[in-house]
Amino acid sequence: MTIKAPATSTDLTAFVSLSARYLILFILFTFVHESQAAVPTVNDWRSRSIYQVITDRFARPDGSITAPCVLKENQYCGGTWQGIIDKLDYIQGMGFTAIWISPVVAQINGSAASGEGYHGFWTRDMTTLNSNFGTEDDLKQLAQAVHDRDMLLMVDAVLNNFAYAGPGNDTVYSDFIPFNKKEYFHPFCYISNYFNDTNAQTCWLGDDTMSLPDLDQDNDFVATYLEQWTAGMVANYSIDGFRIDAAKHVSRTYWAEFEPEVEVYTVGEALDGNATTACVFMSQALSGILNYPMWYSINDTFMNSSAPVSGIEIQYDIVTSECQDSTLLGTFTENQDQPRLANYTEDVSLLMNAMAFAMLTDGIPIIYYGAEQQFSGQKDPGNREALWLSAYNTSMPLYIALAGMNAARNAVANSSTYDYWSPYWTWKSKIILAKDQVLVVRKGYDHSIVTVMTNRGEKSADLGPYTIGDTNFIAGDTIMDVLGCTTQIVQEYGEMRHWECDN
Ligand SMILES: *[C@@H]1O[C@H](CO)[C@@H](O)[C@H](O)[C@H]1NC(C)=O
Ligand SMILES: *[C@@H]1O[C@H](CO)[C@@H](O)[C@H](O)[C@H]1NC(C)=O
Ligand SMILES: *[C@@H]1O[C@H](CO)[C@@H](O)[C@H](O)[C@H]1NC(C)=O
Ligand SMILES: *[C@@H]1O[C@H](CO)[C@@H](O)[C@H](O)[C@H]1NC(C)=O
Ligand SMILES: *[C@@H]1O[C@H](CO)[C@@H](O)[C@H](O)[C@H]1NC(C)=O
Ligand SMILES: *[C@@H]1O[C@H](CO)[C@@H](O)[C@H](O)[C@H]1NC(C)=O
Ligand SMILES: *[C@@H]1O[C@H](CO)[C@@H](O)[C@H](O)[C@H]1NC(C)=O
Ligand SMILES: *[C@@H]1O[C@H](CO)[C@@H](O)[C@H](O)[C@H]1NC(C)=O
Ligand SMILES: *[C@@H]1O[C@H](CO)[C@@H](O)[C@H](O)[C@H]1NC(C)=O
Ligand SMILES: *[C@@H]1O[C@H](CO)[C@@H](O)[C@H](O)[C@H]1NC(C)=O
Repeated sequence: MTIKAPATSTDLTAFVSLSARYLILFILFTFVHESQAAVPTVNDWRSRSIYQVITDRFARPDGSITAPCVLKENQYCGGTWQGIIDKLDYIQGMGFTAIWISPVVAQINGSAASGEGYHGFWTRDMTTLNSNFGTEDDLKQLAQAVHDRDMLLMVDAVLNNFAYAGPGNDTVYSDFIPFNKKEYFHPFCYISNYFNDTNAQTCWLGDDTMSLPDLDQDNDFVATYLEQWTAGMVANYSIDGFRIDAAKHVSRTYWAEFEPEVEVYTVGEALDGNATTACVFMSQALSGILNYPMWYSINDTFMNSSAPVSGIEIQYDIVTSECQDSTLLGTFTENQDQPRLANYTEDVSLLMNAMAFAMLTDGIPIIYYGAEQQFSGQKDPGNREALWLSAYNTSMPLYIALAGMNAARNAVANSSTYDYWSPYWTWKSKIILAKDQVLVVRKGYDHSIVTVMTNRGEKSADLGPYTIGDTNFIAGDTIMDVLGCTTQIVQEYGEMRHWECDN
């Protein structure tokens, strides 16, 4: 019943053990590929892991690894959908089974004071694709290439607002397509209170440099068009799911109407660390939300070696009880709006442990491009680095660690004897130890993956021994250290040991 950390500590402080009985079945049945013929359901997303790219910053179609990208200029840097197609091996090499790309529609013109719409969040014309990213055919080809690899494609959708490069007022809509009339928008006012739903949902985001005219989803044309646009993206381009920008700034009543019309997985952005107020956007509305409530805790726990891990346990319990289904949350470590974790620390172990929490507890993990390269930009625009400047180095330690974590997830997801693991994806993880700086989480009812994490960091000495129970490993089981690639026989019920990988 003890867990021992390696005597000489390495950066391999995050490790995963998994019942290897599945391995036998794995050999007998290998993997069953899901048919891509049908549009995936919400349930099909549960076992996926998502790699988020900023289309303009991920890969150029010329394959350049030197093309400059000056972040503070906020200009297009040349990434395209074709560029993504050319670099799918890089993404699949980490084991990801879905990709989230930037919003796809045409942006406001030229270079406003705050730059170009390279990120895709400044809609001007919903009927036309953003030609900087490619053609209609390129987007179809991307979906095809992704599906050929049994992966899914998620598109970021901006359904709350358009954009205008100047101060807001009630006459700025004339160039918008198709919403070129005043009646399609809420009357101009900037949001003054983000925690007052009425104010946050009827006033406008943005500022005098870039005001974001707020669509009125109570208008029938607006409501219907947004639903048909989304369903049209599924029908015309085989899109499998959507990340819904600024979901908190649209009424839940509208999302409740929208969701059954589109019938695919939708994960909404509700930038709110309070699970009670954030999760209402999934309980009566979208399929899931980005797991901001857990993200603050992941950051505060793993980026601070002085923090006790009990903080994350408390928040985990709140999220699990407050959110309708915590296994449909989009659990992430970084995104385009927040400082990258590597801005806070150079310690690979801390970064790896934060990733392990997002990857192997509840929810659909989302890893932001560049995290695997230990990119360390702070806030926008610093956190939108050009990935090509890393030369797509697949030897980086976090790239390798993510591949290991995804291998464990995919082994369960692809198992043709899913019943053997079931319920796995809907089963809520249990924190089976949260003591000092050691956190142990088990996921899986009958057969389980147990994840051992610490925020001690690279230089930590021997952590153990710690007594843990409820691993669900029984005597005689062969368990496997997923990141360390070794197996061992369990001697005693509940036992789990850490041993070193001989690489
Ligand atoms: C923006 O560019 C598009 C395409 O080049 C053009 O049709 C449109 O009129 C332009 N709008 C403005 C406001 O310049
Ligand atoms: C699991 O399936 C996904 C998607 O079909 C695939 O990309 C991945 O390689 C598979 N993983 C394993 C371990 O078979
Ligand atoms: C609204 O914005 C337009 C475009 O910037 C400008 O021409 C117009 O004067 C503004 N109207 C008001 C009432 O501020
Ligand atoms: C919330 O915002 C609305 C619209 O801006 C306003 O009328 C209302 O008074 C606000 N409610 C509170 C409690 O501040
Ligand atoms: C999908 O294709 C139909 C038929 O060509 C078209 O009317 C519709 O606007 C398209 N929708 C999108 C989102 O591309
Ligand atoms: C979260 O929001 C709920 C509902 O507004 C409130 O009762 C609760 O105190 C908030 N929790 C925290 C930690 O602020
Ligand atoms: C993340 O953690 C760091 C280090 O503890 C802290 O300085 C920072 O404020 C946190 N970020 C957020 C958004 O809470
Ligand atoms: C780190 O955690 C300790 C202990 O909880 C706390 O006192 C300190 O303020 C935290 N540091 C930051 C930067 O949040
Ligand atoms: C964190 O971000 C700041 C601001 O962009 C930057 O100056 C600093 O170099 C970054 N830190 C690291 C470790 O990259
Ligand atoms: C790739 O990353 C590894 C591990 O950090 C490093 O040793 C190697 O030099 C890098 N390769 C290139 C070409 O930068």
